[in-house]
Amino acid sequence: MLLGVATAATQIEGGEVDSTWVDWAARPGTIADGSSCTRATDHWNRWRQDTELMAGLGVQVYRLGLEWARLEPAPGTWDAEALAHYRAELELLREKGIRPLVTLHHFSQPMWFERGGGWLAPDAVGVFERYVRRVVEALGDLVDEWVTINEPNVYVVGAYVFGTFPPGRRNLVRAMRVYGVLAAAHIRAFMAIHELQPGPQTMVGVAHHLRPFRPANPRNPWHRILTPLMRHLFQGAIVRAMTTGEFRLPLRRPAGVERGRYADFFGLNYYSRTTVMRFGDGTPPGVPVNDLGWEVYAAGLGEMATWAWETYPIPIWITENGTADARDAFRSRYLYEHLRVIAEQRAAGVPIDRYYHWCFVDNWEWDEGEGPRFGLVALDYSTQERTVRKSGRFFAETIEAGGVTS
Ligand code: NOJ
Repeated sequence: MLLGVATAATQIEGGEVDSTWVDWAARPGTIADGSSCTRATDHWNRWRQDTELMAGLGVQVYRLGLEWARLEPAPGTWDAEALAHYRAELELLREKGIRPLVTLHHFSQPMWFERGGGWLAPDAVGVFERYVRRVVEALGDLVDEWVTINEPNVYVVGAYVFGTFPPGRRNLVRAMRVYGVLAAAHIRAFMAIHELQPGPQTMVGVAHHLRPFRPANPRNPWHRILTPLMRHLFQGAIVRAMTTGEFRLPLRRPAGVERGRYADFFGLNYYSRTTVMRFGDGTPPGVPVNDLGWEVYAAGLGEMATWAWETYPIPIWITENGTADARDAFRSRYLYEHLRVIAEQRAAGVPIDRYYHWCFVDNWEWDEGEGPRFGLVALDYSTQERTVRKSGRFFAETIEAGGVTS
């Protein structure tokens, strides 16, 4: 198994980009602390230093994102400098022996795309495919592992159910439509990448956010109905559609999508578990939680990996796993316990081949802003100084020791 770290462009790069999140953060009341991703970790200017630091920790694999709005600032227009920038970064990573896994869409998109209707525009899938093709043509000699879309369920729930992500809508019917479009977009991207990069080394998948759902009170009939329903709506239906092209209600099959196998690996982002209560979800008293109040529940990673493997027998990559812990009080233990669960899964025959810790350096946590601290490396936002945390050293030692075995 290869061990490494994961990031996303919008959360680290900084800069005045014409993207949905720069626009969103400029609107009052959208971000918990009023911060903007225009600052973030200034990685756009500090990528060399960050890559050196990463290499110093012995990181073997790195999941990074591209900012679509930088690469395609206007429809069909490509920014040569942005492409050259990502090329240089990927070249340095390879020089350092760090294998890149590149995310094409991670919650953020160009404003021109959003203004044209976003994922609900009639040609959204074709526009996304054009971007994917251009990127693969330009960077494909340096990258053969791709995540097409990050956490489609979290994106849809944030953008179209709770309205906490741009475009800030609250409309369940639209949410279900966007699910279908994202599935079609992934499938088209999957096929395009394989067409442009034929060969067994090309690996394409989705980073799915999965979490166990359990009823707060297993004897309460309402909790018992709501639990499988939430599980299906949040992850069951979309994972199936994207992996196999099979659309179960309430998703509708978009025209032109056939059944097939549309993933070379199962990307699994794992953080926490949901307890279903009367009005949705919550965290029951007494369970261990992180700084954001999310339950810390390592066994759930095993439950989700087993489910994924039994449902879709393809290799599993843990494309994200980590926790918000500003004092670095429990991150090392969190890391160790999750790696131990992975080792147990592997011993039981579940092929988990990669582990990407979220996150490398503290970064901008979407609507939560700069508050939550997910980094193995601490960031002082005012000076941009990076300091490796104890948990960062622990991870480096773990990588050096060859990981955790069961
Ligand atoms: C998953 C998302 O992909 C990532 O962007 C986010 O920062 C982490 N979860 C933590 O919430």
